[in-house]
Amino acid sequence: MIKAAFIQFAPYLGDLNKNIVLLDKLIDKSKSADLLVLPELANSGYNFNSKEQAFQLAESINNSKFIRFLHDKCRRHDLYIVSGFNEIDNGKLYNSAVLIGPNGYIGKYRKVHLFLNEKNIFSRGNLGFPVFDIGFCKIGMLVCFDHFFPEAWRILALKGAEVICHPSNLITKFAQKTVPVHALLNRVFVITADRIGKEKELEFTGKSIIVNTVGEILYQAHEDAEEIGIIEIDPEISKDKMITPGNHILNDRIPEEYSELM
Ligand code: ACM
Repeated sequence: MIKAAFIQFAPYLGDLNKNIVLLDKLIDKSKSADLLVLPELANSGYNFNSKEQAFQLAESINNSKFIRFLHDKCRRHDLYIVSGFNEIDNGKLYNSAVLIGPNGYIGKYRKVHLFLNEKNIFSRGNLGFPVFDIGFCKIGMLVCFDHFFPEAWRILALKGAEVICHPSNLITKFAQKTVPVHALLNRVFVITADRIGKEKELEFTGKSIIVNTVGEILYQAHEDAEEIGIIEIDPEISKDKMITPGNHILNDRIPEEYSELM
């Protein structure tokens, strides 16, 4: 069993240092967790005033105060963290999720399905859907609006992901319906870490969730409160893909019948 967790909070738009000060306290309160998920763009905030502001607030993976801070927390608390991250690389911005552990930065995913104005700011993710083995479980990552695309979930399940970490800044209230279904269809655990608060015209909808492999919501946060959710899960259960004694949800797929998908 491991302790899976999220921190639901309101990142400050444009103030990395304030986000670090706030998260310093919140991560200390979550230190019993083994795997902790933070919201989308937790280092920068979401609703930028301009593309220029988004660039000013981005960090590169190799030179990031935010990642150094998260690594220090992981080392002190023997913890793995997945966090949304405004990433700059080679002059392009990516809406990324980073995975960090006690020994430092492990890997990243770059959001593929960009939402609304994100299309004017970020480049589309170009790393596919990687899965990372951290010893006690295999981790996949999706970012917010990616939740609408079953193909992304399926690829992660086919690659062996057991826990899908889902940093989010949700505007709509659909994810609490879609995520449990994807969890069930792929027999994976999901941690959706949403944010709260308002940035100009956008109001974020909270209700972060941790979902088990039969689509049951094990923990749901409130709509507008800063909140830490921690719950025990057994990632091993995700390896069992049998939904009846004769049906394996991945092996029973018939990909040659799906060619029209392309
Ligand atoms: C979203 O993708 N931030 C809704």
